[in-house]
Amino acid sequence: MLRCRVCLTRSWERVLSLGATPLANNYIRLNDLKKEEIYYPLTLLFCTRCGLVCLDTVVDAAVLYDFYYYLSSESKTMLRHNTWLAKTFVERFGLSGSDLLVEIGSNTGTQLGFFREKGVRILGVEPAENIASLANEAGITTLNRYFNEATAAEIRERHGRAKVILGRHVFAHIDDLDDVLRGVHILLEDDGALAIEIPYLVDMVDGNQFDTIYHEHLSYFSVRTLQHLFERNEMEIFGVDHLDIHGGCILVSVKRKGCPAFPVRGVDELTAMESGKGVQTVKYLEDFARRTVEIKVELTGIINRLKKAGKVLAGYGAPAKGNTLLNYCGIDATYLDYVSDNTPTKQGLYLPGTRIRIRSEEYARQHPPDYFLLLAWNYAQEILQKERAYLEAGGKFVIPIPVPRIVEAAGTAPGGASEAIR
Ligand code: TMP
Ligand code: ZN
Repeated sequence: MLRCRVCLTRSWERVLSLGATPLANNYIRLNDLKKEEIYYPLTLLFCTRCGLVCLDTVVDAAVLYDFYYYLSSESKTMLRHNTWLAKTFVERFGLSGSDLLVEIGSNTGTQLGFFREKGVRILGVEPAENIASLANEAGITTLNRYFNEATAAEIRERHGRAKVILGRHVFAHIDDLDDVLRGVHILLEDDGALAIEIPYLVDMVDGNQFDTIYHEHLSYFSVRTLQHLFERNEMEIFGVDHLDIHGGCILVSVKRKGCPAFPVRGVDELTAMESGKGVQTVKYLEDFARRTVEIKVELTGIINRLKKAGKVLAGYGAPAKGNTLLNYCGIDATYLDYVSDNTPTKQGLYLPGTRIRIRSEEYARQHPPDYFLLLAWNYAQEILQKERAYLEAGGKFVIPIPVPRIVEAAGTAPGGASEAIR
């Protein structure tokens, strides 16, 4: 039985099973369609001691990340966020030209580019070889490594200590958090800060975002649980920002225990809110599990009804979370003709499990379905805006999360059943 990576006990309650699914980022090439895919159980556990929510199956990191398809998003929403983050860090942490900022899981280096523009010395650490090469080719110096104690020592030796260590959407992916935090202690300046951006458990649960559960996301954190983790590792949280990107995230700033730098901000507000909601109780997760089943029933009901009425359906966006949704709900290529995605490296591939073909936006414009199932719902605003012409021509979106609903252009709604936008 798994040991809790936060409190080191084995006090689990099993709260939700989404069945078994292939790895969400394992898009399939045409030539590989005949090969069998490996399915892994997708089951959520709750630690009754520290409140950690996590998967019961840990897929080997080398299988997940040595070669990786996920390229950090360059959507308008995300570029706005990258800009904000660079500006905010320079102000908050007083970053100047001689300071080093190390980003772990830096992907293609999009975020680091924004820090470089501000004159900060930067270094990326990225385990996927294909992605680290892309970053280096683009001029963002990136070490092709997993971040841990050994990598931290190597960086310190070659580049000196870091004023800020940043990890965006990487902490939830890490099994041995203690190894990473030992590395942080080695690399960070005495009065430096570790900043991590992670999906927020409370947003996932309150927003019914069960689709964000997939094998890469080992842990689902509340602020309270993170406090346990950092306390045990001689660190403390001094700031939390609650952000609305990716369906709801927290940016958590951490320093060495007892370090006088940085005023405390936003921590008590969030931990009080978590207590008020009962986030550290198994009931909070059990209610989430019940709503997840209800959404599956409702969404498959809508899809079946549309299909029986002869409607043409396609998916919009091929994010990893779409694969959890489709596999869990059993929505495959018999329901969706294709999914459109604007990431060139995904186009032409097939979705894991459901085997739906990924097409370009241009293809989707030429073959508009009656309904798009919006799998990239975290960009709903940006996408509905972009697809105005499709909507105005009578096209509709089915938005599955937080509760399934149909969206169409104002003026074409047949009387209340659909939600009109504009
Ligand atoms: P992400 O939530 O992991 O960034 O994934 C979003 C996916 O949706 C990504 O594969 C790109 C795709 N996408 C589109 O196809 N069109 C769009 O307009 C946007 C914003 C995203
Ligand atoms: Zn625990």
